[in-house]
Amino acid sequence: MNSDSQPREELTAQEAKFSEAYAAHQAAGLNLDLTRGKPSIAQLDLASGLDGILDRNFELPDGTDVRGYGGLEGIPEARALGAELLRVRPQEVLAGGNSSLTFMYLYLMHAVFYGVTGDRRPWSETSGGPVFLCPVPGYDRHFAICEDLGIEMLNVPMTGNGPDMDVVEGIIEDDPRIKGMWCVPRYSNPSGESYDDTTVERIATMLDRTAPDFRLMWDDAYAVHAIAGAPAPLKDLMQLCRGKGGEHKVIQFASTSKITFAGGGIAFLAASEENLASFKRRLSVLTIGPDKVNQLRHVKFLNNIDGIKAHMRGHAKILRPKFECVESRLRENLGNRGMGTWTTPEGGYFVSFYTLPGLAKEVVRLAGDAGVKLTPAGAAFPYGEDPEDSHIRLAPSYPELEDVDKAMQVFVTCVALASVRQRLEAPT
Ligand SMILES: Cc1ncc(COP(=O)(O)O)c(C=O)c1O
Repeated sequence: MNSDSQPREELTAQEAKFSEAYAAHQAAGLNLDLTRGKPSIAQLDLASGLDGILDRNFELPDGTDVRGYGGLEGIPEARALGAELLRVRPQEVLAGGNSSLTFMYLYLMHAVFYGVTGDRRPWSETSGGPVFLCPVPGYDRHFAICEDLGIEMLNVPMTGNGPDMDVVEGIIEDDPRIKGMWCVPRYSNPSGESYDDTTVERIATMLDRTAPDFRLMWDDAYAVHAIAGAPAPLKDLMQLCRGKGGEHKVIQFASTSKITFAGGGIAFLAASEENLASFKRRLSVLTIGPDKVNQLRHVKFLNNIDGIKAHMRGHAKILRPKFECVESRLRENLGNRGMGTWTTPEGGYFVSFYTLPGLAKEVVRLAGDAGVKLTPAGAAFPYGEDPEDSHIRLAPSYPELEDVDKAMQVFVTCVALASVRQRLEAPT
């Protein structure tokens, strides 16, 4: 299928060929899953050394026994590790439990109910309701948090180098209800793109023009998750903002969920000391302190940022063939055929595939009926609505390589079949 002028008989013949291939996949009785970006068992195994690493040594140099209660901010050693990861000062970091998503939810809940430093009015009292800018495609769980807290979401397109800052700047000028924006600056979920210097600089400048209670949710979840080569360089946003007031508008997040154990890591929240003081008041009502034993295990295991980077090279080795498999199946079967485009990320956990407009749901349905579960179409957009019905998120990290390959063979067949059928159904 190359152009509108393709003869109908040719399209019909192609449809028959792809239908036959599709039926063969269906008959194979597959049960494969490319839905969530989870580390595989082999990746989790890389961190098995966490188990037993403390060897009953529970005391910190300052005499704290990590088995006891307390230490709301996390142990100093874990805060220092988070500070290296997020390039801030240790006193600007909270080291918490196993999930940065929990920190994000709590931070926004705190803003909605109590307001933030700079403007103590709760966001919920914003006339017309609070609004967030959401670069799309984006992380479905970010959008779920906004939906849950009654924060309206506005789509902002991604450019390949981060969000379209012309759009962002335009909206910010126009709408005082805008309270914040989501950003995944490195190997973004799900497009895999990293923000270039100009984008980060424009974000820093834009912050000067936002209200004092604006908050940029800077989720550096994939900071060290290169698949090939060294991690993508990222301009230091906090550094650009320091001394100008912008440092109070940036809330940074990271975790070791995709470094050590996905369900048993450490989460980090980094923000100005004023912001932390305000947020800690809420946190102290919620908990007496995080799991310090786990924090100490992580510090012993990872040591510092160089230890993290060395560890991540092991992850890259496991992930690289899976991403190469996705890329080669797409290129071989769909390259230059006018049936879709895709990203070729150098890090992170996802590939974004764009079908012809109006076909994403159909491709996901076809794949599901052939035993390959894909993330629901639209999931990477606020309210689950992809205006083009075109985006599909592929997550090859968890299955074995052989299963990624099988799943991709089904996927490309589904794309081809849906594309040809659409052409055949188009009015002539
Ligand atoms: C962008 C992004 N942020 C956060 C998370 C979840 O992080 P955590 O496990 O620390 O809650 C994910 C997980 O997929 C993610 O993709």
